Amino acid sequence: MDLSTEIAGIKFKNPLLPAAGPLTGDDEKMKYIASLGVGGMVTKTISTEAAKVPRPCIVATKDYVVNAELWSEYGPNKWIEEFLPGIQSLKMPKIISIGYSKEQIEWLIPKLRDFGDAFEISTHYVGKDLNPIAEVARTASKLAKKPVFMKISPHMPDPVEFAKVVTEAGAAGVVAVNSLGPVYYVDPKTGNSPLGSENRYGWMSGPVIKPVALSIVQRIRQSLDIPVIGVGGVKTAEDVVEFLEVGASAVGMLSSALIFGKEQYRRTVNGLEEALKKRGYESAKSAIGRKLEIHHADFEVRNPVVDPEKCTLCKLCEYVCPYFAIKVSNRVEIDPNACFGCGLCESRCPTHAISGVLK
Ligand SMILES: Cc1cc2nc3c(=O)[nH]c(=O)nc-3n(C[C@H](O)[C@H](O)[C@H](O)COP(=O)(O)O)c2cc1C
Repeated sequence: MDLSTEIAGIKFKNPLLPAAGPLTGDDEKMKYIASLGVGGMVTKTISTEAAKVPRPCIVATKDYVVNAELWSEYGPNKWIEEFLPGIQSLKMPKIISIGYSKEQIEWLIPKLRDFGDAFEISTHYVGKDLNPIAEVARTASKLAKKPVFMKISPHMPDPVEFAKVVTEAGAAGVVAVNSLGPVYYVDPKTGNSPLGSENRYGWMSGPVIKPVALSIVQRIRQSLDIPVIGVGGVKTAEDVVEFLEVGASAVGMLSSALIFGKEQYRRTVNGLEEALKKRGYESAKSAIGRKLEIHHADFEVRNPVVDPEKCTLCKLCEYVCPYFAIKVSNRVEIDPNACFGCGLCESRCPTHAISGVLK
């Protein structure tokens, strides 16, 4: 199957990329991640100074990561002299992640542009005002002579406006999204936040943020015909397909490789063909943008239907029903007058015995 994709004229052998972070923090790490089969490379964010990263800076559960990593702990010279020359042998597109202000971008781009095929610019620490962000996009696009992708953070109030403003300023597209926050994670064992950062705050990523990321990608693509790299919560090949369907042309993953191990990249790439086939696609490109139709709200109330063959009378539906409409004795009884048609019972039923409510 043809798994290739293309963004702003750059061809990738498959749509899975590492998202900017510690796994792409130097040339040796990038070579290792490349060996796992990803379609392209994205560096850790490089800025004009090395980041002074507080420690500890990464904690995870199986559902999410909380980090306080800032940007690369190495200064630009290390990247220019060692890490970027070190990945030139990789036969895949290389996206150089940089940040943050106009002045920093002006300083960085001329020194870095020969090492990559595109730039990704993090806007994570520059606030919510779109004017300086547009200025960075304009400056970068003029200087880079290569495609520039602006990376949006989930705290931006209007993702569509962000995407519109940066592409009008010359950016080739958008990377959506960065991590969510700030968040205050408490370790249940100690009752404290284990991070070393100021106020012990961190940023959340990984599987729990996938619906946030999918919605932002979809909203941008429903309004604008621009290339988007979807990032946020990807764990499996099925997740990659979901991002393609809401309009992403390529898909980044980081936290699931931190939670489940670096082999998650190989597993995800290896599962892509099957995941695409399962949804009826004959290539990666054919899945892009297949779920962009706009749905208007529905108000019809549909009551649940219970299959007694599958029902184990576990009573979970009765316990969770927010409208007190379900009673379970030797069968499940649903009061159609009390039932609000909310769908919770169907989504929680462990044996899939309930149907008829959810779309
Ligand atoms: C430990 C860690 C470090 C990160 N460092 C960067 C970074 O340097 N630059 C950047 O743009 N995003 C950075 N991110 C954000 C990721 O690139 C990504 O946008 C986010 O984590 C959501 O994707 P995921 O759920 O697959 O991790 C970092 C995330 C984590 C967890």
